[in-house]
Amino acid sequence: MGRSELALTLGIETSCDETSVALVEDGRRVVSNVIHSQVDLHKDFGGVVPELAARDHLERLPGLLDFAFEKAGASPDDVGLIAVTRGPGLAGCLLVGVGVAEGLSASWSRPLTGVNHLWGHIYAAMLARPDLEPPLLGLVVSGAHSDLVRMPEHGRFEVIGRTRDDAAGEAFDKAARMLGLGYPGGPALDRLARSGDPRRQPLPKPSLPGLEFSFSGLKTALLYRLRDLGHAVTPRDKADLAAAFERSVVESLMDKLDEALRLLTRGEVARRAGGEVQREVVVCGGVAANTLLRRRAAEVVAGRARLTLPPLELCTDNAAMIASAGFFGPTAQTATVDPSLGWD
Ligand code: KG4
Ligand code: ZN
Repeated sequence: MGRSELALTLGIETSCDETSVALVEDGRRVVSNVIHSQVDLHKDFGGVVPELAARDHLERLPGLLDFAFEKAGASPDDVGLIAVTRGPGLAGCLLVGVGVAEGLSASWSRPLTGVNHLWGHIYAAMLARPDLEPPLLGLVVSGAHSDLVRMPEHGRFEVIGRTRDDAAGEAFDKAARMLGLGYPGGPALDRLARSGDPRRQPLPKPSLPGLEFSFSGLKTALLYRLRDLGHAVTPRDKADLAAAFERSVVESLMDKLDEALRLLTRGEVARRAGGEVQREVVVCGGVAANTLLRRRAAEVVAGRARLTLPPLELCTDNAAMIASAGFFGPTAQTATVDPSLGWD
C-alpha cells in the first residue's frame, strides 16, 4: 500500500509577507512546502504594507494550494487535518488564511485546527530532525520575537526569557535600513557583514541581568555612529558596521542561550522542571537563518546538548511548520484570528 489514507496535514500560513501551503505526513515528513515571498511587492515601500499583503495572500492562495497538491501527487482525499496560522501576525493577512481554511474544512468535511505561529517555528525543528522530542530548550528569533522557551511536552511552552524592546529580527531590519540596505533587511545585512570586520567599528554588546534581551540601545549606538561619520561614511565602514552590529546581536543572544542552558542543567529552572537534564536545544525563526548565529549556536551548545537548527527554508515563515504544529498540538484548537497571540 502507498501512503496511508488521511495521513496528510494541510498547512496554511499567511501571517505576514509569505504565502505558503504545505502537505506534511504524520507531522514529520514534508511532502510539499510551497512558499511565495512578497518581497517584490513591498520592496519599494521599504517594509510590509498590510493591505497589499492581505490582498496578495488572497490572490495567491488558490494557485499555491493546487501547486502543493500537484507537487505532492496527492488529492484532498489524502488530507486528514487542516492546520492554519491564527496568530500572531497581521490581522488582515491572518483572516485570509483562516477564511480559506474554514472554507476547505467545510467543503471537504475535514477537521480544522488553529495554530500559534510561534509554536510553528519550534515545530520546524521536528521536521528537520525526525527523532527530536520534547523536553527541549528553544531560542525563537524572528521579526517580532526573541524568546527563550522551555517546551516540556508537545503543545506546552514556558517562556523563560524575552526581549524588553525590539526583537532581534526587527533590530536587524532597522539597522539594515540605517545602512541603506532596504527591505528585507536581515538577509541583506547578513550578506554585507560577511565582507566587514567587526573590530574596526565596534558597537556595544547589550547586557541585561537574567535572561532578558534588549536591542534598542544598540540600534541607537549605530544611529549615532552613522551620524558622526556623516557623508564621510564609506562602503567599507558600512560593511564593518554591519559586521559589528551582527556580532553584538548574536553575542547577546548567545550569552543568554548559554545562561539558559546553565540554569536548565543545574539552576532553579531545572529544579522546577523536576531536575530533568536538558538534552535538546532548538534555535529557530527567521533570524536563525543568519550565518554568524548558526556558527555561534553550534559552538555554544557543543558538548552540552544536541542542537537542531532547521534548514534555511524552514527557519523563515512556511506552512510545513504550521502543519507539524497542528498535527502535534492539542486537537481542534480554535481558528479564531488573534493578531497578538502570545505563547499560550
Ligand atoms: O520568522 P520570520 O520569517 O517572520 C516572522 O515570524 O517574523 O522572521 C523574519 C525576520 C526578519 O526580521 C528578517 O530580517 C530576519 O528574520 N532574517 C534574518 C535573516 N534572514 C531573515 N536576520 C538576519 N540574518 C538573516 N540571514
Ligand atoms: Zn515567523
